[in-house]
Amino acid sequence: MTERTLIIVKPDGVRRSLVGRVLSRFEDKGFKLVELKMLTMDKALAEDFYSPHAQKPFFKELVSFITSGPVVAAVLEGDGAVEVVRRMIGSTKSAEAAPGTVRGDFALGVTQNMIHASDSVESFQRESRIILG
Ligand code: RTP
Ligand code: MG
Repeated sequence: MTERTLIIVKPDGVRRSLVGRVLSRFEDKGFKLVELKMLTMDKALAEDFYSPHAQKPFFKELVSFITSGPVVAAVLEGDGAVEVVRRMIGSTKSAEAAPGTVRGDFALGVTQNMIHASDSVESFQRESRIILG
């Protein structure tokens, strides 16, 4: 079923000039790019975006990192977008992420893991409202 999902190339990906290569993977796979936005999150926006993690011990570090520089947000559309894109980004801990995934190929960190992707259609709706308005 045609679905939409939100990806965010995090500040490490933008700083390392990997935005084009990351977006290309999703275009190559067959997803349609339907929205694209570069922004720098402020603290309030980041805290809202990551509110499901507000009680986690890594919350402060996460907000500090995601606000440390510009990010690139994109909405991708295609069959099973949420699940397929989650598979393509790889597991949260980049050092353990499978080769062939974005995190597996481009990152080593946990906080600094290159990319975000919505984990459900509901998350996509909440996140895109916050990031894209
Ligand atoms: P994302 O939301 O960014 O797509 O990543 P995810 O679903 O794979 O991971 P999630 O559990 O939602 O965590 C959100 C982000 O928080 C950072 N994190 N740090 N230090 C830690 O133990 C830890 N765990 C998670 C990561 O940047 C992760 O992407
Ligand atoms: Mg998540």
